Amino acid sequence: MPADTIRTLLANAERLLAVPGEAIACPPALAGHSVALLFFEPSTRTRCSFELAAKRLGAVTVNFHAAAASIAKGESLADTLYTLEAMGVDLFVVRHRDSGVCAELARLAAPHVAVVNAGEGRRDHPTQGLLDTLTILRHKPDLERVRVAIVGDIVHSRVAYSAVTALTALGVTDIRLVGPAEWLPRDEPFARASRHTALKDGLAGADVIMALRIQKERMAAAEEPDSDRYFARYGLTEDKLAGAAPGAVVMHPGPMNRGVEIAAEVADGPRSVIREQVTNGVAVRMAVMQRLLNKPTDTEALLV
Ligand code: CP
Repeated sequence: MPADTIRTLLANAERLLAVPGEAIACPPALAGHSVALLFFEPSTRTRCSFELAAKRLGAVTVNFHAAAASIAKGESLADTLYTLEAMGVDLFVVRHRDSGVCAELARLAAPHVAVVNAGEGRRDHPTQGLLDTLTILRHKPDLERVRVAIVGDIVHSRVAYSAVTALTALGVTDIRLVGPAEWLPRDEPFARASRHTALKDGLAGADVIMALRIQKERMAAAEEPDSDRYFARYGLTEDKLAGAAPGAVVMHPGPMNRGVEIAAEVADGPRSVIREQVTNGVAVRMAVMQRLLNKPTDTEALLV
């Protein structure tokens, strides 16, 4: 996604954050549209925020649960798409464990139908990357000077890939990857990030600290660390944050495992912007769906 597109989406999301629900234009931007939420992996934040975003913009939503759908009787993903398209769905929000599914569905879909990636494979969670970037911008607007430490299981994290892609596009240069050496990737978009196996080194002077969940579903059982030992070395506690910059904020994409990658005192503490990330996610997803359906995105068009 070009930097200008990211900036436009984030500016629109920022304006949407300021629009109270009762001020949404009538008819709202997505009135007459139908959005299907196709989730093949568990989700709370992404699925619910896409649903709320679609509803706030006036769309009808359909929740598709793979385990209870005819996929379980052998129907293909392509036939599922064609079936829902025939019912009038014109925007699909898709989460899938395999990379490339969203691109394939977009290729098969009718020209007026849009497909949004809601988390796919190990590398893509674009709307999470956007909401994380928006959250950072709201607290640390000088992106060229901000120091971002990402702590934990980075190599399996689609969140980390998408966040670093967006942040790098907008000019962030000080990105530190912190965790066990085998979890610190070297390929793009991480090639220019610094790597730290000692938490203290990675957090020194950091303005933004993003904790990540251990993605057990994407690793062999033998690779899983002992939770207590992991927490002792890499779990974020107030004591361990002492070397971060004054005013540093703590982020986590969720779902959190308290007492593993982050202590409750930090998750619920004054530095935490974790719930702001969730709030920002609704606005970002509103902006993304409006753009995909070629709807007006300026504030005036949204207001009554
Ligand atoms: N951050 C995120 O994708 O959370 P969910 O899995 O709950 O959607």
